[in-house]
Amino acid sequence: MPSTSTPDAADSANAAPAPPAAEMAAPYGSGIPATAARIRTHHLQAAKRNGQKFAMLTAYDQYTAQIFDEAGIEVLLVGDSASNNVLGNETSLPITLDEMIIFSRAVTAGAKRALVVADLPFGSYEQSPEQAIASSVRLMKEGLVHAVKMEGGAYYAPTVRALTQAGIPVMAHIGFTPQSEHMLGGYRVQGRGEAAQAMVDDAVALADAGAFCVLMEMVPAATAVAVEAAVSVPTVGIGAGNSTTGQVLVWQDMAGLRTGKMAKFVKQYAQLRTVLADAAKAYGDDVRAGTFPGPEHTF
Ligand code: KIV
Repeated sequence: MPSTSTPDAADSANAAPAPPAAEMAAPYGSGIPATAARIRTHHLQAAKRNGQKFAMLTAYDQYTAQIFDEAGIEVLLVGDSASNNVLGNETSLPITLDEMIIFSRAVTAGAKRALVVADLPFGSYEQSPEQAIASSVRLMKEGLVHAVKMEGGAYYAPTVRALTQAGIPVMAHIGFTPQSEHMLGGYRVQGRGEAAQAMVDDAVALADAGAFCVLMEMVPAATAVAVEAAVSVPTVGIGAGNSTTGQVLVWQDMAGLRTGKMAKFVKQYAQLRTVLADAAKAYGDDVRAGTFPGPEHTF
């Protein structure tokens, strides 16, 4: 949590209008003010306290970040899913810290209001809390992100503690953790039956260590309800039912850019692949027919 007594005034340092009096009077208690110049972790925590929900989407470049930010999405995730969704890898494992920094820099250039969180990629934090701090500092210093996300359960509580003590906000990611896909035996729902209690224990340990939010991927709705009730910090779900404070989707899934079988938890709000394909076909047809460029495009 930021220690400044007027965080939103600090947020607005470069913006012309001062925050309204109501926001100044209760900066931590009123959920997510529409006027917040920048979404902060305390806004998400207030959202949970006030029974508000927030939305999170992945973003990997300047324009999508701008579009989602202007659409009011509260949190943008520079996910290591850039490995699959941008770089064309089969899994999230190959992406490097250097590559994550480039994507982070692009997203932070486009996001004026959203809280921007970047994934610590596989291999950048597992060895020690010191390694996690060094990697996170690079994401924040070079990628300019506001927080990091880290996969793993209670075992990583000391790392979360070290990061938060170093001033680095951490979103903990439990349930199905794609970086451990080979350990978990593929894309499988986690936390069923007796495993539910272990997931609650993981969430509590990570929140107690200072995580500002717990993200759950592919867990039964009933387990997510138990986790949400057990921690005071907000939760975010992807394939975790509707009880979490926030929801996240990969943007190419949400907007219908990716082909192939969609996970059950994906809802497609657009068919961008068709829109882009139609635009490309129309352009190609015009060029081949000699109708583009026309006189209006010619110097
Ligand atoms: O990298 C990513 O996109 C993620 C989401 C699936 C939560 O971690």
